[in-house]
Amino acid sequence: MADTTKEIPVVKKKEQKEDSTLDASLRPRTWDEYIGQDVIKKNLAISLEAARKRGEPLEHILFYGPAGLGKTTLAHLIAHEMNSPMRVTSGPAIERVGDLASVLTNLSPGDTLFIDEIHRLNKLVEEVLYPAMESRTLDIIIGKGPSARVLQLDLPPFTLLAATTRMALLSSPLRSRFSGGTYRLSFYSHNDIERIVQRSAVLLNVSIEPEAITELSLRSRSTPRVANHLLKRCRDYADVRGNGTITTNVAHDALHLLDVDQKGLEISDRRILETIITKYNGGPVGIQTLAASTSEETETIEDVHEPYLLQIGFIERTPRGRMATRLAYEHLGIPLPANMQETLL
Ligand code: ADE
Repeated sequence: MADTTKEIPVVKKKEQKEDSTLDASLRPRTWDEYIGQDVIKKNLAISLEAARKRGEPLEHILFYGPAGLGKTTLAHLIAHEMNSPMRVTSGPAIERVGDLASVLTNLSPGDTLFIDEIHRLNKLVEEVLYPAMESRTLDIIIGKGPSARVLQLDLPPFTLLAATTRMALLSSPLRSRFSGGTYRLSFYSHNDIERIVQRSAVLLNVSIEPEAITELSLRSRSTPRVANHLLKRCRDYADVRGNGTITTNVAHDALHLLDVDQKGLEISDRRILETIITKYNGGPVGIQTLAASTSEETETIEDVHEPYLLQIGFIERTPRGRMATRLAYEHLGIPLPANMQETLL
């Protein structure tokens, strides 16, 4: 059964993501510190205030969008605002119905439960979650065959906050139970990323030149987690090769060594684009074929690489598969094929 001790994350070790501990020091602790996603913040502020006025727990809320945009951070902020301890778990960590039952029956009134990667919950567990969300009851089947009985337990009022990178994989009954709203996080503006880098540099106690902030932000894939990761790597470089300050040159050299290009693409992103272009004539190519050809997992391509490549217009998704766009050819310095040149005329 899953560990359900309060304040101890109920995520199994192997499922813990690197960032959950690494980024913790840079995570905004208050609403005012959280930069970007303004519309979501305004809507959440209303919901929080309304719940507080009524003395009720907040309704269940679902966050979705590409990795690293702050879904978990928003959940932490909500729990903090509601003054309720947050229990943290994830879809793959809840393997059996018993694991979920253990988590739910250990909740106290007003608690917040965060389920990351909720799209990875198995169907049997998901079905137990429906009545828990809707009517705060836990239906457990005891025994098998004709002697099976349903044990119904009442649960305390609680708020479920959940996050997913793959909205399409959520069943519609599950989606519809997030009565408090479903929010899609979007990529950050360049200005917001610069502000985040600036804030993180202060927290990390590292001095950084304004142009270095710009350089780093431009290569951050419009994603705070990536920006913070690059900042930390540049800080390492500055400490080892420089005098501790992230100058423009330090940033440039560190990013060059990391093989992060002008658009923030890493070698694996470029390999994906090159594969579509050179092996499949620019596409369309199915995601499974692309994964096999690049030795990446389908899920990694869909969750990590593709959202940003789509965002910057380097690939297109068509019913027959992924296609590289003219911008991708130009970025990689590969001559355009004849059919693409014609469309220029
Ligand atoms: N660090 C990571 N995400 C952030 C955000 N949205 N605002 C401020 N700091 C952050």
